[in-house]
Amino acid sequence: MAVDNPSHLRKQVLSWGTSNLRDLPWRRTRDPWTILVSETMLQQTQVSRVVERLPVVLNEFPDPATCAASTVGDVVTVWAGLGYNRRPVMLHRAATQIVSDHAGAVPSGLKDLLALPGVGPYTARAVRAFAFELSAAVVDTNIGRFYARIHGRKLSAREVQQFADEAAPEDQPWLWNQSIMELGALVCTKRSPMCDACPVVDLCAWVGEGDDPAQGSAAVSVPQTRFEGSDRQLRGRLVDVLRASPLALSEIAATMQTDADRAELILAGLQGDGLVVVKDRQARLP
Ligand code: ADE
Repeated sequence: MAVDNPSHLRKQVLSWGTSNLRDLPWRRTRDPWTILVSETMLQQTQVSRVVERLPVVLNEFPDPATCAASTVGDVVTVWAGLGYNRRPVMLHRAATQIVSDHAGAVPSGLKDLLALPGVGPYTARAVRAFAFELSAAVVDTNIGRFYARIHGRKLSAREVQQFADEAAPEDQPWLWNQSIMELGALVCTKRSPMCDACPVVDLCAWVGEGDDPAQGSAAVSVPQTRFEGSDRQLRGRLVDVLRASPLALSEIAATMQTDADRAELILAGLQGDGLVVVKDRQARLP
């Protein structure tokens, strides 16, 4: 690997993490369901919002069995304020599979985790490392950015995972992954990285000078497309209304604030995603 001194990298990151990790609710637990739910939320929602909403969701669905026994609509309803409403649909499906295939306990095997609906390479490894403290190299946008910069070039998805796997120590998977993620979130930030405060600046091929190798590198998130006027905004408007009650099909376009053709397409998308069902000329949550 281009980082010639992985043991120095490990030592520095672990030592930095030991004194710099923020006290966040999901860092105080090893409950696998809590980790699965919080990591699902954290994928596309900011930390402060997740801190606020996580207790509400867990209070309603304290374990996979409770979630699986609820309707999809119940899960979508408690998801209010978190956005990207496909996630609660998938979480409900995952809970159902955890009950049917794993006796209600979140599995710890990478293959079993990856087989759960809505669980991708990131979430599967996060659950392994953060709930079970099993070895795993988590790659999220913060970590993808960190590796691109330290190596000084754009990386492919394979390379990022490979570098992450090589760097990860066998022991302390929890502390390692939280630390490297936090380093990306707090020091090796997207804009204005604080290289002076970085514990591994001496290993970094970039050090904040010239073009940022993280731009366009794998696993690094790209700027979100405009929300105003997007399908996502219109979908959200309808789902928000359906959280309160079903709606006559004749009201859908006005509720979305769009024309009938676009409303029809968006409604079909929502039905396809399992977020909305139509019955008796009414749209409702499933
Ligand atoms: N974003 C995703 N997972 C996270 C975690 N465990 N801590 C902080 N931010 C995160």
